[in-house]
Amino acid sequence: MSKTSDSTTISLLTGASVDSASRTRAQHRISLSTKRRKMSRRANLIGICGVCSLCLLLLIATTQHRPASMTISNGMSVGVGDISGVQTGYVDRHHVGTASVAYNMTATIADVLAAQRTKILTEMENFEYPQGRFGVDAEKLSDMTPATNGTPVRSVIITTWRSGSTFLGDILNAMPGNFYHYEPLLSFGINQVRDAAEGAEALHMLRHLLHCNYTNMQEYLEYGKQHSYLFEHNERLWSVCKEFPHFCWQPKFLSPICKLFPMQSMKVVRLRLALAKTLLEDNRFTSQKSPIRKVLQK
Ligand SMILES: *[C@@H]1O[C@H](CO)[C@@H](O)[C@H](O)[C@H]1NC(C)=O
Ligand SMILES: *[C@@H]1O[C@H](CO)[C@@H](O)[C@H](O)[C@H]1NC(C)=O
Repeated sequence: MSKTSDSTTISLLTGASVDSASRTRAQHRISLSTKRRKMSRRANLIGICGVCSLCLLLLIATTQHRPASMTISNGMSVGVGDISGVQTGYVDRHHVGTASVAYNMTATIADVLAAQRTKILTEMENFEYPQGRFGVDAEKLSDMTPATNGTPVRSVIITTWRSGSTFLGDILNAMPGNFYHYEPLLSFGINQVRDAAEGAEALHMLRHLLHCNYTNMQEYLEYGKQHSYLFEHNERLWSVCKEFPHFCWQPKFLSPICKLFPMQSMKVVRLRLALAKTLLEDNRFTSQKSPIRKVLQK
């Protein structure tokens, strides 16, 4: 009896002791978990603050470097200019860039042409005229400028996309006195000109440009107004366009300024060879002085 009572007291005692121990342990656990919860909340707060400040820093960095990234993207679009048909970046930049410039509104087209003529004369000062070499008789500038009924040296690069033609086109454009008809068929989109109707339209454009004839070229000029990179590759023209934008897209300005240049180059990626052949066989481009005719005759 006493044994059982002893054991019960012990069990009671131990039970109590166990109870109290577990209770304190539980309390400990609770306090630990609340502490942990508090700590994790603090950690979360710190984390959020960290991410926020990182975002802010990034935002500041990107806004400060926006001009640089813009020039890079523009540079890239120069490289891939023949792939994408629509690059509004150029147009936007043009508008932003010219918004604050005060244009010289007193100059007439005749003034601008006279200034350009002087510029070309200076540029051609040390030029060695072919004088019969390469099948070209030209001895002086006026022999080569359409404005004086001369025959310009015409170079046409006919190729396809991603062929390095933008680079080659820029090399040709580095020749003194060169007028660069960059990718005149841009308005046709990213297509090669194939069917008869498009072919006729394309040939109309190319012939007119190679003759510096900007009349009946509405589609070309309208496209250029929206996508100024059509002209931007033609640095000699574009520098004038930036100064006198009110003349830039007018045939009565473009035709005579084009005719002042003794070299005419063109790059096309959208032309099939069959159409190119038609263009090269055009007798009006192959006068006796022209190198194209000499090459074709051999
Ligand atoms: C405007 O251009 C004409 C012709 O190039 C020039 O003679 C004249 O000095 C220019 N005026 C101004 C204010 O730059
Ligand atoms: C320019 O082209 C048009 C046809 O589009 C033609 O009527 C005109 O005579 C040409 N101008 C010159 C100067 O060749």
